[in-house]
Amino acid sequence: MAEREITLRFLAEPGEVNFGGKVHGGAVMRWIDQAGYSCAVNWSQRYCVTVYVGGIRFLKPIQIGQLVEVEARVIYTGTTSMHIAVDVWARDLAHAERQRTTHCIIVFVAVDGSGKPVPVPAWEPVTEKDLSLRDYAQRLMHLREGIEKEMAKFHTT
Ligand SMILES: CC(C)(COP(=O)(O)OP(=O)(O)OC[C@H]1O[C@@H](n2cnc3c(N)ncnc32)[C@H](O)[C@@H]1OP(=O)(O)O)[C@@H](O)C(=O)NCCC(=O)NCCS
Repeated sequence: MAEREITLRFLAEPGEVNFGGKVHGGAVMRWIDQAGYSCAVNWSQRYCVTVYVGGIRFLKPIQIGQLVEVEARVIYTGTTSMHIAVDVWARDLAHAERQRTTHCIIVFVAVDGSGKPVPVPAWEPVTEKDLSLRDYAQRLMHLREGIEKEMAKFHTT
């Protein structure tokens, strides 16, 4: 049975430090990609590639030694694509309250052995929260059309 959500949980290690003494943004992006990839493969049961990473928002820094949770969930499926919302949370081990530190949407496409997109199982929203996340994904998709058009000019130069 395909699962829609996945959470990676681990400690922020000293090897991930940036010049300011907090967790490096590149490490956070790697975790986001790993969680998104796991979620997409879990859902589609196929190998997947990233086709788009949109609007990563770093809300708060993560301290070395904090417990990090990277939550990824499918919030919209097209024919071959899966839109995955990823939220990164962090908390001190000695405190129960966690804080959302990062949010972004990643789009993955399931591909066959030759890299050709293949259909994925459709995800149907059930709860009110599901519906609002599905609508959120669709609104972002429409907003991206303008950005895509603008960026396409750059691709040709
Ligand atoms: C992902 C890839 C296979 C898609 O190939 P393509 O020829 O563009 O395929 P399609 O036009 O049929 O699009 C496939 C899906 O991607 C979606 N897609 C394409 N461009 C997109 C974008 N900019 N943003 C969001 N989704 C996009 C399409 O909407 C389609 O989804 P749907 O089937 O659910 O409607 C191809 O672009 C690729 O190999 N990219 C490189 C992937 C990669 O190396 N990633 C980094 C390492 S994993």
